[in-house]
Amino acid sequence: MDYNELMKQAKEVSEKAYAPYSKFKVGACLCTPDGKLFSGCNFENSSFGLTICAERNAVGTAIANGEQKISAIAIFSPNMDNCLPCGACRQVLYEFRSQNGIDVITEINNELKVYSLDELLPGGFDL
Ligand code: THU
Repeated sequence: MDYNELMKQAKEVSEKAYAPYSKFKVGACLCTPDGKLFSGCNFENSSFGLTICAERNAVGTAIANGEQKISAIAIFSPNMDNCLPCGACRQVLYEFRSQNGIDVITEINNELKVYSLDELLPGGFDL
């Protein structure tokens, strides 16, 4: 999978974010092991706690399309370099990790940085 393409789509969808309260827009684009792409952006609410992160929005779209394994996810915010997933999203991603885990891709100074979900979330919860 071309991680530049994942990041490109994460950037595109970040423009659709609904973030009137924080003004912090985020886009995420994930891929499945067989190369299907799904993206999502954050959307906020007047009742702040109802906010949905970009990553979880992308995961929900993948699930709704019948996919349950994720091999990589790119995350982009125009507001911040190296925009990493929050703790809750790390655990949500963990649930759907592929056999090879999940590569988490951010951008720093216009260059891609690749982390493994294992390093970002050691000891994820598994029933
Ligand atoms: N946000 C995400 O969409 N993903 C993250 O990983 C971090 C935070 C959103 C939630 C909220 O709309 C805004 O960014 C500020 O927290």
